[in-house]
Amino acid sequence: MLEGKRIVLGVTGGIAAYKAVEVSRRLIDAGAHVVPIMTAGAQKFLGTATLSALASEPVQTELWNNATTPIPHTKIGQNADLIVVAPATARLIAAYRMGLSTDLLTNTLLATRAPVVVCPAMHAEMWEHPSVVENIAVLRERGVHIVEPTEGRLAGGDIGKGRLADPASIVEAAARVLGPNDMEGTSIVVSAGGTREPIDAVRVIANRSSGKQGYAIAAEAASRGASVTLVSTASLPAPYGVKVLQVETAAEMKVQMERTAADHDIIVMAAAVADFRPVKPAGGKLKKHAGPPEITLEPTPDILAELGSAKREGQIIVGFAAETDDLLSNASKKLSAKKLDLIIANDVSASRVGFGHDTNAVTLVRPDAEPVEIDLASKRDVARAVIDVIVTIRNRH
Ligand code: C5P
Repeated sequence: MLEGKRIVLGVTGGIAAYKAVEVSRRLIDAGAHVVPIMTAGAQKFLGTATLSALASEPVQTELWNNATTPIPHTKIGQNADLIVVAPATARLIAAYRMGLSTDLLTNTLLATRAPVVVCPAMHAEMWEHPSVVENIAVLRERGVHIVEPTEGRLAGGDIGKGRLADPASIVEAAARVLGPNDMEGTSIVVSAGGTREPIDAVRVIANRSSGKQGYAIAAEAASRGASVTLVSTASLPAPYGVKVLQVETAAEMKVQMERTAADHDIIVMAAAVADFRPVKPAGGKLKKHAGPPEITLEPTPDILAELGSAKREGQIIVGFAAETDDLLSNASKKLSAKKLDLIIANDVSASRVGFGHDTNAVTLVRPDAEPVEIDLASKRDVARAVIDVIVTIRNRH
């Protein structure tokens, strides 16, 4: 995701400084070279040894007498592809806004022409203070990317908005800023997860879908500049910048998909939708002493087929085919029956493939092109390949 990118990770003195270690690890896992800078305040919360050991090179802290670079205040910023400040304190935000270059990090921020991602973390009262609000607004106007803090428990047991965004979202934001942006101006709706069809007030018919592949497609599209909506039954964390509409049953998914599809350019049905549902779910809880219930099933609507029939000119519709046998011929049949532009076929009987796993192996089947096989890879890598094909189809329209 960030292969070969040189990312300066600035860490300032907030209680969340320890989370910078996780941000660094994730940036490196995504392929980046991480150059860490810590302020004096950060060193009160986190030892330099920890981040030095886990980043790509030793932590730099000094503007003067810097052993690594004779003119660190310009060189580090000039060589960076991106600067991420996580956590960013109110002081750092104010200094950056004012151009007050008193330490290595603020100098680096002024000397760079690379994009900057600032991830504030502070007490809710501080985050809401008019001076912080104004400083953030000014930075935003200048094109600085702000990854807003989240709601939750803060230092000292208080609750409010001010927690550092989670490290995965920070890495997503970095990928988005550095990404190819070839989905800019395109809207996409992705369904994800398995539907749950009620039997009674407490029991459901469900399936083993985790929603991970759909979420990975949504995250990849967002990181490439698309406007993304997820219609989901899963309770995974929302990918950075993605709007999530939560649903439970096939009927609810149909309503949200049809409503959303009306003004979206691309539809991806990654959800595992139940094919059958109980005709009349019991209102209360079925009692064990009444003996085994007889549950009559009826078919659910085929959402994808209906979206395919209602397809607008230029709209791209993508489906999945989870198969256990005759992978390609079954997938091709669904491709034409449901009027799709692309179907992602996976053999769910293979090991580490499909439902619930973090990896997948798929074949991308299109009406007018040779099938493309993607060998076992992370669901994010599969998502990248899927979005690549979608971009090719869109560019041909
Ligand atoms: O025909 P089959 O159910 O195998 O097709 C799978 C594709 O159709 C998936 O993309 C799935 O999300 C979608 N589907 C649907 N509504 C259903 C069943 C499947 O949209 N009721």
